[in-house]
Amino acid sequence: MPSPVPAHPPLRVAVLGCGVVGTEVVRLLTTQASDLASRVGAPLELVGIAVRDVETERDAVVDRALLTADAESLVERADVVVEVMGGIEPARSLLLRAVAGGASVVTANKALLAQDGPTLYAAADEAGVDVYFEAAVAGAIPIVRPVRESLAGDRVTRVLGIVNGTTNYVLDKMASEGLDLDQAVKEAQALGYAEADPTADVEGYDAAAKAAILASLAFHTRVSIEDVSREGITSLTADDVLWAQRTGYVLKLLAIAERGTADGVEGVQVRVHPALVPVSHPLATVRGAYNAVFIEAEAAGELMFYGRGAGGEPTASAVLGDVVSVARHRVLGGKGPIESRYADLPVLPATSARTRFQVRLEVADRPGVLAQVSTVLASHDVSIEAVRQTPVTELPDADYARLVITTHAAPEHALRSTVEAIAGLDVVRRVVSVLRVEGA
Ligand code: HSE
Repeated sequence: MPSPVPAHPPLRVAVLGCGVVGTEVVRLLTTQASDLASRVGAPLELVGIAVRDVETERDAVVDRALLTADAESLVERADVVVEVMGGIEPARSLLLRAVAGGASVVTANKALLAQDGPTLYAAADEAGVDVYFEAAVAGAIPIVRPVRESLAGDRVTRVLGIVNGTTNYVLDKMASEGLDLDQAVKEAQALGYAEADPTADVEGYDAAAKAAILASLAFHTRVSIEDVSREGITSLTADDVLWAQRTGYVLKLLAIAERGTADGVEGVQVRVHPALVPVSHPLATVRGAYNAVFIEAEAAGELMFYGRGAGGEPTASAVLGDVVSVARHRVLGGKGPIESRYADLPVLPATSARTRFQVRLEVADRPGVLAQVSTVLASHDVSIEAVRQTPVTELPDADYARLVITTHAAPEHALRSTVEAIAGLDVVRRVVSVLRVEGA
């Protein structure tokens, strides 16, 4: 039997950051060393772990002798740099330094890629090294590679993603236990899903960064986080969640990237917002802190990718997959895909997106009210798909009724002016909520 020991000299791996993900990356590099060497064709030698404070107590798997606060020198003596520190700086400068020195880069840093990915891609391209970032979107779920490579022969028309586990957990708890938003966020914090400051998750910033990365890959166009229209879940109430259930939907925070047109110009629309998803849609089955990405492509049809979108081990799994890929390229020669932006589609305003809507109203309960409301919709060219009127039985003296109107697809700007006009009708007591319906 030939010896399984690879003949190639070891590849030097540097890890930047040793938090929850970094520790699990170190664990896999250490405990799976022999398998990884066989898969790569060379041993992976962990040469250093850059941290802010070398004195901090750490998991026993972390060899303290490898800790250093001098990340700049570390990246210069590595063949592969794994960045799991997060944030824009010093991560950006360190990665640019790494590629300039000829190292391949694996990063989980969605914020950096969504804000300034092209600078890193261009530098890596010039240096002839890889930048891989599977872990930057939806943790363990293989989604970057499928969109970047497996679907490179197809034409993607739409990407719908539940890419933030914290908000999915919160909305799921609101639906299954009738909690209000604050209670559900507190539970998510107690379980370690949500940060002490949950803003990045609940206001949709985290999902917007992932939407920008997915949109860039799917549509071969540069999309930055500034191009993404963003709305979080903080305005949603327990009542919204209840009515979603009553009308056959589940509320989800979606990241959406799709082809569209505005004033006859074809482009891409990228947005993050809460949406009603029909219970029959595969995304409606995604519970708890799980993530899923649903893709529509012309030849492939519908695809769904599902799994754990956060956490140390799942994210480390995606990181190590990338480490093996870039390391193989160093052993065997060749390089992974570079940034594909040939299509260069304009990013269209989110108000041009066509979606269905569900509008909930409180209206006077007397003849002719429905006719007035539907006349306003018709005059704005918004077509009604379904109307449901419910008496307010829990308040014996109530002189109003609840109206739930679901529309056919209409441009967002038309819907906004329609709702404004409806709110101005004397017979309308209150516009309770306006929610988009997606995935129908
Ligand atoms: N905070 C994110 C989430 C994980 O809740 O999904 C990291 O992107």
